[in-house]
Order: sequence, then structure tokens, then C-alpha cells
Amino acid sequence: MSENLHLVTLCGSLRAASYNRALVQALPELAPATLKFEELEWGHLPIYNGDLEQDGMPPKIVRELQERIRASDGVIIATPEYNHSVPGGLKNALDWLSRGPAPHGFFQVPTAILGASDGTIGTTRAQAILRQILATLNAPTMPSPQVLVANANTRIDEHGVLTHESTRSFIATWLVEVERWMRRFPRSERS
Ligand SMILES: Cc1cc2nc3c(=O)[nH]c(=O)nc-3n(C[C@H](O)[C@H](O)[C@H](O)COP(=O)(O)O)c2cc1C
Repeated sequence: MSENLHLVTLCGSLRAASYNRALVQALPELAPATLKFEELEWGHLPIYNGDLEQDGMPPKIVRELQERIRASDGVIIATPEYNHSVPGGLKNALDWLSRGPAPHGFFQVPTAILGASDGTIGTTRAQAILRQILATLNAPTMPSPQVLVANANTRIDEHGVLTHESTRSFIATWLVEVERWMRRFPRSERS
């Protein structure tokens, strides 16, 4: 039997009733039993300001998140789309996590993306931009399949439960590919 993989999740929305958090929260029940999840909170990070760095080091709260990411087997990011891009808060968190001496938070850490929006094209543009950011960070990002949850208000109920059966089964299939992707980049082979 394969060893478990410890994956961390980042939700790009801070909203209590976030559709993207609903996706993150659905992952454990849809995933193979060998995937374990831990959500990382980033809402307490200040807006990036180089004056908050000392001797090239980001603040302790950033370093703690970087360490948890580097100790994981991979990262899953659920992003909303704001004005055809990633939310500013999420970008700010990624900017912080890219700081400090090498290897920074995401360097060579495998990632996978999903996203939900109440629009009709389900975060397509935000995900494309997020891919570009993760490429800059040298974080290998699973190219496909892509989880683009459109019309999220019809697929996630008022309790934040992903109720739409075909979306649930698609994400379950996607998670099998996520596991395969993460296992291609073992922690022991990172520099
Ligand atoms: C500032 C702002 C800009 C938005 N721009 C887009 C957009 O470009 N495309 C889109 O599909 N939805 C857009 N939306 C709607 C979001 O997809 C919707 O609010 C979604 O529920 C946010 O994700 P969450 O439920 O995880 O918070 C925007 C929302 C906000 C607040």
C-alpha cells in the first residue's frame, strides 16, 4: 500500500460562505484515502512591504507558512476570480511566500489548482494567471484536468456543501490525477 501524502490547501477567498472553501472542504470525502489535507490560513498576513523584511528574511508568520508548505507533499489552491485575475489577497500571500532565502515556500513544490465562481466560465482566467505565477515560483503545476466550477451558486448549497453530483465525481477523478502528479515530485528529490 502507498504511503499517505500530506497536502496543504489554500483557499483564495476569506469569505465565510466562500464557494472555494466549500470545494476545499469537500476534498477529504472525495479523495483517495491516501491523501490527507491541512488548510493553511493566510488572512492574517500584512500587505507586502519590503520594510517588514529584516536581513532579507520575511516575518515569522510568513516563515511558518513557508515551512508548512515545504514540509508538505504538495499544495492545492482553490481560487476565485476577481476582475479576470486572482484575488489581490491571494496574490499578496503568494508574494510573501516567495520571499526569503532559497528555497522559498513554493520552490519545486508540486501544486494543483481548482476554482469556483458564480459566473459562467468558472475561474478560467484566474486559473491561467495563477499558473503563470506558480511557473515563476518554479512550482510544477498539474496541467490537466482542470476543475472550473461555473455557476457555483447552483452547485453548492446554503450550508457550503458541494451537492452537484457530476461536479463531485469529476473532482474525485481529478484527485486521483492530483495524487499521481504529486507523487511525481517527491519531497526527497527537492533541492
Ligand atoms: C471584486 C470582485 C470581482 C469579481 N470578478 C469576477 C470575475 O472577473 N469573474 C467571475 O467569474 N466572477 C467574478 N466575481 C464573482 C466571484 O466569482 C464570486 O464573488 C465568487 O463567489 C467568489 O468566490 P468565493 O465564493 O470563494 O468567495 C468577482 C467578485 C468580486 C468581489
